[in-house]
Amino acid sequence: MPIAVASQSSVLTPVTVDTVKSTTLLPPVAIDAVKAATTSSSSNGLDHRAMLSRTALLRPDSAIRSLFPAEKVPGMLSLLAGKPNTDTFPISNIALTIKPIAEEKETILSISGSDLEEGLQYGQTWGLTRLLDWLTQFQSRLHGRSVTPSSEDNAWRVSIGGGSQDLLTKAFNSLINPGDSILVESPVYTGILPTLACLQANVVGVQTDSQGLMSSALEETLSNWTTSLQTAAHPFPKIIYTVPTAANPSGATASEQRKREVLAVARRFGVLIFEDDPYMLLSFDGLGEDTPETRRRVRTYWSLEQDEAEEWGSGWVVRFDSFSKIISGGIRVGFVTGPKLIVDYIDKETSSANLQGSGASQAIVLALLEHWKYEGLLQHCDRVAAFYRKRRDNFEAKARAVLGAQSDGRPAVAEWVTPEAGMFLWLRLNLPPVSAPHGQHGDSFSLVSEKAKAKGVLAVPGVAFMPNEECSSYVRTSYSIIPEEDVEEAFKRIRDCVEEAWQEQGPVMM
Ligand SMILES: Cc1ncc(COP(=O)(O)O)c(C=O)c1O
Repeated sequence: MPIAVASQSSVLTPVTVDTVKSTTLLPPVAIDAVKAATTSSSSNGLDHRAMLSRTALLRPDSAIRSLFPAEKVPGMLSLLAGKPNTDTFPISNIALTIKPIAEEKETILSISGSDLEEGLQYGQTWGLTRLLDWLTQFQSRLHGRSVTPSSEDNAWRVSIGGGSQDLLTKAFNSLINPGDSILVESPVYTGILPTLACLQANVVGVQTDSQGLMSSALEETLSNWTTSLQTAAHPFPKIIYTVPTAANPSGATASEQRKREVLAVARRFGVLIFEDDPYMLLSFDGLGEDTPETRRRVRTYWSLEQDEAEEWGSGWVVRFDSFSKIISGGIRVGFVTGPKLIVDYIDKETSSANLQGSGASQAIVLALLEHWKYEGLLQHCDRVAAFYRKRRDNFEAKARAVLGAQSDGRPAVAEWVTPEAGMFLWLRLNLPPVSAPHGQHGDSFSLVSEKAKAKGVLAVPGVAFMPNEECSSYVRTSYSIIPEEDVEEAFKRIRDCVEEAWQEQGPVMM
């Protein structure tokens, strides 16, 4: 059963002839023609350069940063950068004490000498060299992709940023012109919406079900584009944004089959996939069935795009990973992996927005990763996943008991799909219908943001995750940090709010 309704925004921005010309505007799609067009000019499958935004193309290289790599050439004498002298930095050592949750016993790691200097000093835009190498090898091994691509055209690279939010924002800036269309799963991670609004993107929601983004809805939206193109002059979508593992907020996880279908549609219509996957390593599916390295994991879009790459080329996926849920949210380290040209342009954004991510944070992450190695990182992630699975089980059991049908005859006030990773339970509240469009299931906004708050329970109303602010009867609840003994009371308060909403309606059956 679909859990959200596809929507298409009305015209957001008047699109000038210039805008239309400068974007990747595909005609109603004759599949073979698109395939021929997208593969003939470049074996990447997509012409990434043609997808760049005008701002990206206008942004000059940083005069100083572009010379940083040359400083590493043996014998080079650098009078280049206004780098402060590290002798003046007051820190001589960072000692990391690792909790037993990540190790059998407490371990102390030390960051000092040149590692510390590199972390504390201005450095390369794309991150610390050793961390970048580590992550490149990690991506290669985890997703089964060769570090040395067979040609320039399928070259990929990694860049490190201040969390995946930072890199997503820069990627959108690099690709989207005002009026450009972007498809997003609906509901969508709300954190991307302000950036898309500022870029004046034409954001179009695509229906999701218990496996997230629906390939059939995606196909329908793209094949129907002709009509909207004629009436609203929207350029053909450039990007599909999706969170394939434990989507935030819905908790939905796409199977490999679903991903293959979505990828096939994206290829046929010439659209780039943004795979935002911060919960991938925290998937509950297959947890404990095998070792952390060999256990079942759903292949990612970035891995799957290699299949049939001979026919379609690669470069269809830009992948966003994050250490926020694995190491810490405040450490602000994430990384992007994708077609070289697009990652280069994300770096250009970094070089003018914030010069680089935090070197000190990266040095801490590097120390942990070099200590853990590949196997140790996966083991740590499995421990974290097991922690959240236990919380999910408790949370869901309480939800069933309190929000489900009651023995005294009171009906269920919510339903949901069990999340297979992550930290959210996305509840569809059984609310009195409202008259607004799409309001047949009721609107949770005032109930969650006012009534529930007044009763002493906070959650996020569903409308926050709707690409075009459509009315929603959903509410996002999180089981990550609430003390387990408080969960029941929190759900009781939500139940009271829903029952009161029905009582206010008068004698209508729930
Ligand atoms: C789907 C999704 N993408 C991106 C982010 C941002 O992550 P980061 O902390 O790495 O910036 C979040 C954070 O909650 C998220 O849920």
